[in-house]
Amino acid sequence: MIVPETTTKLSAFAQDVQNGLSSQPKFLQSKYFYDAEGDRLFQKIMDLPEYYLTRCEAEILQTHAVDLAALLRNQPFDLVELGAGDGLKTRVLLAHFQEKQLQYRYFPVDISRNILDHLEETLQQRWPDLSVFPLEGDYFSALKKMPASEANVRKVVLFLGSTIGNMTMADAESFLQQLRAQLAPGDLILVGFDLKKNPELILAAYNDSAKVTRDFNLNLLHRINRELGGNFQPENFQHWPLYQPITGHTKSYLISKIDQEVYIEALNLTVKFAAWEAIDMELSKKYDFAEIEHLATLAGLKVLTYFKDRKEYFTDALFMV
Ligand SMILES: C[S@@+](CC[C@H](N)C(=O)[O-])C[C@H]1O[C@@H](n2cnc3c(N)ncnc32)[C@H](O)[C@@H]1O
Repeated sequence: MIVPETTTKLSAFAQDVQNGLSSQPKFLQSKYFYDAEGDRLFQKIMDLPEYYLTRCEAEILQTHAVDLAALLRNQPFDLVELGAGDGLKTRVLLAHFQEKQLQYRYFPVDISRNILDHLEETLQQRWPDLSVFPLEGDYFSALKKMPASEANVRKVVLFLGSTIGNMTMADAESFLQQLRAQLAPGDLILVGFDLKKNPELILAAYNDSAKVTRDFNLNLLHRINRELGGNFQPENFQHWPLYQPITGHTKSYLISKIDQEVYIEALNLTVKFAAWEAIDMELSKKYDFAEIEHLATLAGLKVLTYFKDRKEYFTDALFMV
C-alpha cells in the first residue's frame, strides 16, 4: 500500500506532480522521465535512426576531443558533467584525456541514481584509476555536494545532449547565470545545442516509427502509478509532438482521448481530464547561432568556439567565464 504523502512529507516528485496536474493547463516536468525504465527507454531513443542528435554530438566530440585535450593539457581540472546520463559520448572525451594523461577528476551529476550507478560501474571497469565522484540530484542541489576545487584547479562543465533545450531561453539564461556564479574566471562550459533545421527531421526525432518516444512519455504516467499509487491508464492518452519553427520549440504533449478521472493515492488527489485535454510534457528548444550568441551575452559568458558536425545539425558551444 502507498502511504498517502499528505500525512508525511511530500517528496519533490510528489509535490511537482500535484502542482502540475492541478494547474491549468496541466503539465509534468520532463526531468521526472528518468527513472530506471525511463533511462532504459532513453538509451533506446539514442539508438533510433530518427534521433540524429546523439550521432551528431558523438561525431563532434570524436573530431574535437583532441582540441579540448590541447586546451586543458596545462592545468589540472575538475570535469563536472550536468545530466551525465549513461556518459556514452563523454567516454569519447575521457578516452582521449586518459590517453594524454591529463590530470582531472570527473563529477557526473544526474537526477537518476540508477544511471549514475551504471555510469560509475562502466567507467571503473574501463579505467580503474579514474577518479569518479557521482553527484545525485537536481543540478544545483547536487553541485552543493561537490568538494571545493583546489587552488589552481579549473572547472570544466559539460552540459551535453541538448539538455539545455529542455528549458525556455529565459530559463536557460538564468540557469547559465547561476552556473557562472559558481565558477571562476577562466573556467569553461561546453554546452550541446540542437540547431534549427528541416522541421521534418526535427519532428521525426520526437515521433519515431518504433514509438519509443511515445513510450518514454507514457512511462511518466506509469511512474506516477508505481511510485505514487496512481491509476492512470496510459493507453487512454495519445502522444502528440509538434515543432514551431519560429520559437524553435519542439513540444511533446500527452492528450486524454476520453473524459476520465485519475486517482493518485499518495496525494489523495483526483485529477479530471476532459476528452482531448493535454498534459504539457516536454520542451526541446532548437537554437540558431544568433540565439546562442545572445544567450551567452545575457549570461555573461564569452563564446570561444562552436564545434559542429559535418551536417551542421548540432553544435557544442565552448563558453568561457
Ligand atoms: C537528454 S538526457 C542527456 C544525457 C547525456 N548528457 C547525453 O548527452 O546523452 C538528460 C539527462 O539529464 C538528467 N537530468 C534531467 N533533468 C535533470 C535535473 N534537473 N537535474 C539533474 N539531472 C537531470 C536526466 O536524468 C538524463 O540522464
